[in-house]
Amino acid sequence: MLTKRSGHPLTWVERLGWSIHSRQWDDCLQLQDYQEGMQRVTEWLGARRRPGDSRVVDLGCGTGNYSLALARDGWAVTGVDWAPGMLRRARGKARREGGLRAEFRRGDFNRPLEFEDGAFDHAICIAAMQCVADPAAFLAEVARVTRPGGCFVTVFKDRRLNEMPRRDASGTSQSYVKPSLKWRILTRMKAYARSKPGWVRRYDRDEMARLVEGAGFTGVEVHPFYPNTRALVAQLPAAAG
Ligand SMILES: C[S@@+](CC[C@H](N)C(=O)[O-])C[C@H]1O[C@@H](n2cnc3c(N)ncnc32)[C@H](O)[C@@H]1O
Repeated sequence: MLTKRSGHPLTWVERLGWSIHSRQWDDCLQLQDYQEGMQRVTEWLGARRRPGDSRVVDLGCGTGNYSLALARDGWAVTGVDWAPGMLRRARGKARREGGLRAEFRRGDFNRPLEFEDGAFDHAICIAAMQCVADPAAFLAEVARVTRPGGCFVTVFKDRRLNEMPRRDASGTSQSYVKPSLKWRILTRMKAYARSKPGWVRRYDRDEMARLVEGAGFTGVEVHPFYPNTRALVAQLPAAAG
């Protein structure tokens, strides 16, 4: 179970790392895979939209790209992230675009989520499950804040898939972080991750499916997504009666 005190004493280092990384994060918008990913998640939620559905929570929202894509599709989105740099950029983009129902809140998903039971119709967690300290406890929180019948979409690196080169819109291979900064951030984060074994998690599809089902979701579908990454879509049972 997550408690208000869950967390490693050095989590601020990790949070700072993500805040610094926010300066580069939107370079990934140049990647065709990333653009297609946002479109697919938007389509999956659109296909599961019930009358009256409007609220989506985006856990580990980063600079808000998925949140904003969903808001453009008519959803009222709450993005949650713990890195101030990520949130600043997300809020700035929402403000500049204007007219979208997207709000961004600071929160640590390794602690109990600060939302009422059933506060959202659907939940997403894209490319952030590797930072979840206790996946079963986190998914129980996701299920708690999601309304019966709502769905959960997550995108995660599958440790069984091989690393493949990323492509940009022209089909050429590219890295999405400039080498010098990438080197500095990654070496620091790897050193930090090694100091707290188990905190940078890799899953495989069966393990992720079991975890999500363990939290009460059903109808699990697993799809190929970005290179070496999979997406899982699952649903909570509808309320009885
Ligand atoms: C790889 S980025 C993904 C961002 C976004 N979902 C996307 O796909 O564009 C992972 C995000 O998870 C956030 N994150 C990591 N640990 C977190 C935690 N404990 N609580 C909240 N957010 C966290 C990071 O700050 C970062 O913005």
